[in-house]
Amino acid sequence: MIRAVLFDLDGVLTDTSEYHFLAWKRLADELGIPFDRQDNEALRGVSRRESLLLLLKGRPATEEDMQAWMERKNRYYVEYISQMTPENLLPGALNLLQELRANGYKTAIVSSSKNTPLVLERLNLAHWIDAVVDGNAPARSKPAPDLFLLAAERLGVVPQECLVVEDAAAGIDAGHAAGMRTLGLGPRERVGHADMVLPDLNGVHLADLKPVLE
Ligand code: BG6
Ligand code: MG
Repeated sequence: MIRAVLFDLDGVLTDTSEYHFLAWKRLADELGIPFDRQDNEALRGVSRRESLLLLLKGRPATEEDMQAWMERKNRYYVEYISQMTPENLLPGALNLLQELRANGYKTAIVSSSKNTPLVLERLNLAHWIDAVVDGNAPARSKPAPDLFLLAAERLGVVPQECLVVEDAAAGIDAGHAAGMRTLGLGPRERVGHADMVLPDLNGVHLADLKPVLE
């Protein structure tokens, strides 16, 4: 039986995945590296460093270059997210969090992003969340299971009692590696390997999740 629902943040509860894309695109343009939305699909859910390596596609770079480019991308990204308000929650997200809590489920945010605290503050979500595990934790990022396992530990539940909600292939892989059930949001080409797939959380109620909650 599921007792806790672990939500990814970027692309699940809020539309920051678009800001990540815009910030990487800006850096890629400045470096003269071709980069489009299709290239961006591979970056979804993976860490900042891994994203840069994917963007560079084998181009040579020193550690100093990498640090400078990651910092530059992050500066652009922080510019975008600093403008966010609770209006940037995706449709259905807050409602589902509230329904889960009202029905005794524990909730957590599990994100690879080091910017999670700032995004959560902008969204004013703290009240509906029991635990936050993010990219600042000393753990491997997704697709490793570490962040999800840490969240289960903090919530006092075992992995088999957790449902992971993710928009990224790497996130679904991480959930499965942790021994958890998974709900994938987005196209089947991306998250078709999840236990249940929905386009997004718009209009989704607890009852709709019955197949993965029982
Ligand atoms: C994930 C995003 O949540 O966090 C990725 O899906 C991003 O696109 C990763 O690269 C790391 O984020 P940040 O904010 O630490 O650069
Ligand atoms: Mg995501």
